Amino acid sequence: MYRSHTCGALSLTDINKTVSLSGWVQKNRKLGKMSFVDLRDRYGITQLTFNEIIDKQLFEYSLTLNREDVIQIEGLVVEREQKNAQLSTGEIEIQVQKLNVLSTSSTPPFTIENETDGGDELRMQYRYLDLRRPSVQEKIILRSKMAVEIRNYMSAQNFLEIETPFLIKSTPEGARDFVVPSRMNEGEFYALPQSPQTFKQLLMVSGFDRYFQIVRCFRDEDLRADRQPEFTQLDCEMSFVTQEDVMNMFEGLTKHMFKTFLNIKLDDFQRVSYKEAIENYGSDKPDLRFDMKFIELNTLLKDKGFAVFDNAELVVAINLKNSASFTRKQLDGLTDFVKQPQIGCKGMVYIKHNEDGSIKSSVDKFFSQAQLSEALAKSNSSKGDLLLILAGEKEQTRTALGKLRLHVADMLNLVNNNEFKPLWVVDFPLLEKIPDTDQWHAMHHPFTSPKKEDEHLLSSEPHKARANAYDLVINGVELGGGSIRIHERALQEKVFEALGFSKQEAYEQFGFLLDAFQYGAPPHGGIAFGFDRWVALFSKCESIRDCIAFPKNNSGKDVMINAPSKLDKTQLNELNIKLSV
Ligand code: AMO
Repeated sequence: MYRSHTCGALSLTDINKTVSLSGWVQKNRKLGKMSFVDLRDRYGITQLTFNEIIDKQLFEYSLTLNREDVIQIEGLVVEREQKNAQLSTGEIEIQVQKLNVLSTSSTPPFTIENETDGGDELRMQYRYLDLRRPSVQEKIILRSKMAVEIRNYMSAQNFLEIETPFLIKSTPEGARDFVVPSRMNEGEFYALPQSPQTFKQLLMVSGFDRYFQIVRCFRDEDLRADRQPEFTQLDCEMSFVTQEDVMNMFEGLTKHMFKTFLNIKLDDFQRVSYKEAIENYGSDKPDLRFDMKFIELNTLLKDKGFAVFDNAELVVAINLKNSASFTRKQLDGLTDFVKQPQIGCKGMVYIKHNEDGSIKSSVDKFFSQAQLSEALAKSNSSKGDLLLILAGEKEQTRTALGKLRLHVADMLNLVNNNEFKPLWVVDFPLLEKIPDTDQWHAMHHPFTSPKKEDEHLLSSEPHKARANAYDLVINGVELGGGSIRIHERALQEKVFEALGFSKQEAYEQFGFLLDAFQYGAPPHGGIAFGFDRWVALFSKCESIRDCIAFPKNNSGKDVMINAPSKLDKTQLNELNIKLSV
């Protein structure tokens, strides 16, 4: 028997028991005639002692132990003289009687402790060692517990967990596909699913009524802190439901998860329309932990002789409470922030509402004090506040101000990391213009239904049609998104047409779905959550990478196994792939 207990199990109630433990040597130190070894496993750390006076040979053997050696011991549980309140086993130690080295370790490339000296790249290369660190392990353990809780909850609600294939044909979720060549079908390729979207809809046509899956999805897109090329969704679909039914069901699940894992009782989620979100916060995933709503100043500040505002489609501001004391350097810093290419503004205007009631702005030359005062009044500004104003093309200016809003909130420490503000964003437009073209693509995906009252717009002004689509946003993160689907062939064909597909193209790509709709498709809808994002939110990770056992780096590489990598000639020949380089 390797062990009678784990390294996190023993306490004062076990005094005088002879036990056996197995684990990794975390630390080994000698103090006079004693040596102390910290033995670690997933469950905790137990202190082992070796006494030269009791057993000289064993004592000397213990001094040869290296960090990360794997050992098995047998010994007596005794009370510690100096207790360690940090450890669950901190009141006891083991007087070792037998020591067996199961496997030795080379010196690890970084320290296997919460505070490690290993850099990012090195830890990724030795991810199996990084995963030994308790703070990293905790996230993977939380992930497992969350998955179990979700399965239990969904199952209790009558959802069936059904697997869908990975080797499929492209599904349009807006990213590029990862493709897999088919050896048996020369010149043909599978695509890995960006989501199980079409399959879960087909499962509804099959009559399964309620489906879910915790499933891997693959998207070849630019990576960020909240994006991985392969990530996991909690994917769900329901039949005979309205938008309200789906939102209520998953608001219930979300509340249940918050209560179970964070002991937080969430209030009913706020609903914000896409239009409001963009107009008030410049983002379809607003962080509502702080207010700082946009104030539109077109009527007050346009056409007063200041060309930048006069030529702008939109003049819009945010009011920073108690920030009139910002220095020149701080204001220049904010101007530099909005001028970065990825934000794209030409400049920023400020109005200071000083503590003594005076007003000072960067555009004093162009506006009277009365005009500036009116702008402050419209912004509900008080003495001591600072107004930051951006102007330009509507969409770009709102997006830029949205980023500035987040940036200053961070600067002013307005973001409380222990607070959670969930909201549903609803009434998304059905279509979105592809930049620099006259073409449209589906904002959610092409299977999303238009609102009944907007269906007539499809042939005349499709861009005005709103969708039965909804996103769940928490603290500025899009946690999930879904929609009520089209379940009638004719309407689906109409939407494909609005998206610029010819009848033939639509049939070639999605004929299987159009055909399925001919055989009695129930009204249906669903949602998918980013499971990695959910774990990251609950474990307060900056990046979803930390919540995935074996993630890819920012260039989409797994540096541990060296993937992607080249194939050898035989394999390429078998697949009939000829490389030009
Ligand atoms: P959507 O594309 O909005 O919807 O994806 C659902 C959720 O998945 C998460 N997500 C990601 N997480 C990590 N890395 C990525 N690259 C990534 N891309 C998306 C987000 C997102 O909200 N089939 C539809 C769902 C439906 O209509 O039911 C879909 O996939 O949290």
